[in-house]
Amino acid sequence: MESLVAKVISRRHARTERAERDWLARADRTFSENLRFVGAFLRSPGRVGALLPSSRVLARAMIASSDLAAAGAVVELGPGTGSFTRAILERLGEHTTFFALELDWQAVAGLRQNFPELRVYHDSAERIQRYLARHGRPQADYVISGLPWANMGAGVQRRIMGNVAHALAPGGVFTTFTYLISPLRANGRHYRRVLGELFGSVEISAVVWRNFPPALVYRCTQVRPPAEALALPVG
Ligand SMILES: C[S@@+](CC[C@H](N)C(=O)[O-])C[C@H]1O[C@@H](n2cnc3c(N)ncnc32)[C@H](O)[C@@H]1O
Repeated sequence: MESLVAKVISRRHARTERAERDWLARADRTFSENLRFVGAFLRSPGRVGALLPSSRVLARAMIASSDLAAAGAVVELGPGTGSFTRAILERLGEHTTFFALELDWQAVAGLRQNFPELRVYHDSAERIQRYLARHGRPQADYVISGLPWANMGAGVQRRIMGNVAHALAPGGVFTTFTYLISPLRANGRHYRRVLGELFGSVEISAVVWRNFPPALVYRCTQVRPPAEALALPVG
């Protein structure tokens, strides 16, 4: 009897220790990711556009109702320290092609270290089509963006979005987020207009309050034909 009680206690003890170890590992990872993100922000505030990485709640909202497991090709734009990348990798199918495009080379190095299975290219989102072709996939089923739209000029927004529109397969989905405060900025309002011009359907989520700053997710489908003239593919 005594030895049974001892066994139960020791198993519980082992479980608690494991949970504590997991929690500490997660906290450590979050801390170093936040530190790297702040470093990237200090190097290039305009390009990064946020002081902290997106929360796990926002990452979940970004891929909610996206059947990534059934997708042929998924592309992530501006993964930064990988808040969305982690959630995407957990949901991919066995035969899904997945790669990311990131402009900050230190972020690329960090991603390669933290996600050895990830294909991440040090290049601009504008060249999405070039990399799809390289992977033998003419178009993507899902394009998931962490790009800081409100910090980009109107021309850059149009160039990237024109190429994204070209890159989406029929029935494809483009998902992005903007901060609740982005419409206060002219570029934030311009980006919202670009989405309206490009897509027949733009669904906006409820506010994701558990993110700093609070954010909205845009799920865009039905590329409008005239919008394809917005940008020529970048060679
Ligand atoms: C706000 S951070 C988002 C990072 C991450 N997705 C998140 O939500 O925590 C934006 C990232 O986009 C990258 N970026 C900015 N312009 C880009 C471009 N034209 N092509 C690819 N990445 C770009 C920045 O270097 C930065 O890592």
